[in-house]
Amino acid sequence: MAEVVILPQEQLVELATAQILDRLHQNPEMVLGVATGSTPMPIYERLATSGADFSRARAFALDEYVGLPESHPQSYHHVVDSSVTKPLGFKPQNVHVPNGNPETIIHAGADFEAKIAAVGGIDIQILGLGTNGHIGFNEPGSSLSSRTRVKVLTEKTRMDNSRFFDSIDEVPGHCITQGIGTILESKQLLLLAFGKKKAKIAHAMLEGPVTASVPASAIQLHRHVSVLLDEDAASELENANYYRYVWEHKLGGQALG
Ligand code: F6R
Repeated sequence: MAEVVILPQEQLVELATAQILDRLHQNPEMVLGVATGSTPMPIYERLATSGADFSRARAFALDEYVGLPESHPQSYHHVVDSSVTKPLGFKPQNVHVPNGNPETIIHAGADFEAKIAAVGGIDIQILGLGTNGHIGFNEPGSSLSSRTRVKVLTEKTRMDNSRFFDSIDEVPGHCITQGIGTILESKQLLLLAFGKKKAKIAHAMLEGPVTASVPASAIQLHRHVSVLLDEDAASELENANYYRYVWEHKLGGQALG
C-alpha cells in the first residue's frame, strides 16, 4: 500500500521538503525528479529558502511541450530554470529537461532515458496529479511500461493548462514525457495533490484498479511511494480514516509502502 498522508497543505510541503533535504544530506549528488504545474511550487520555494546546497545535485524534469522554444515563458525548460535551477542553486549542466524541438524529437526520448541511466536513476521523483489521472503527461491509455516519448495531449489537459497561456489555442498539442515505466523506476515517488478538483481522481488512483485508463494508478505497483493529500483532495477516499490511523501509528524509520 502506498503511504497516504492527509494533512493541511503547509504541513505536506514541510514533509516533502524534509524528505528531499534528508536525501540531499545523505548524498549531496542526489538526483531529484521535478514536476512542473502549480502543485510542487511551494516545495521549490521552501527548498530555496532552506539554504541547502544543491550545487552538486542533479535534476530531471518529467516532461516538456513539443514545439515551444526553450525561451518561451511556459516551456518547461524555462519554468524549471526559473523555479528550480536558479532559486535552489543547481548547476545548469546538472539539470535536464526533455528536448521538445520537433527537428530532433525522434531520438529525444532515448537521449533523455540515457541521461537518467548515466546518473544511476532518479532518487526522489516529485509528481503532481492531472484531473484526468495523468502523471507526467501520460494521458489515459498510456502503456504502464512506457518510456520517455511523444504523446498527444488530451483536450482536458490543454484546457487545464490554458491558465498558463493567453488562450487554449496557444497550448501545444504534443508533449514529450517520461513514460510510466520510467517513473516507476525512480527509487522513491512523492505524489502531491491539493484541492477538491483532484478528489475523484485521487480516489481512483489509490482505491481503484491499476489501469492504463487512470495512469496514476500505476503508483500502486511501486514499493516506496508517499501520496500527500490535503483534506479536499482526500475527501472522496473510502479508507481515509485508516490512512490517518496508519500515519499516526507509524514507527520511526519504518520503510514506506
Ligand atoms: C507537470 C506534470 C503534470 C502535472 C499535473 C498537475 O510536469 O507532469 O502531470 O503535475 O498536470 O498539475 P497541477 O499541479 O498544475 O495541478
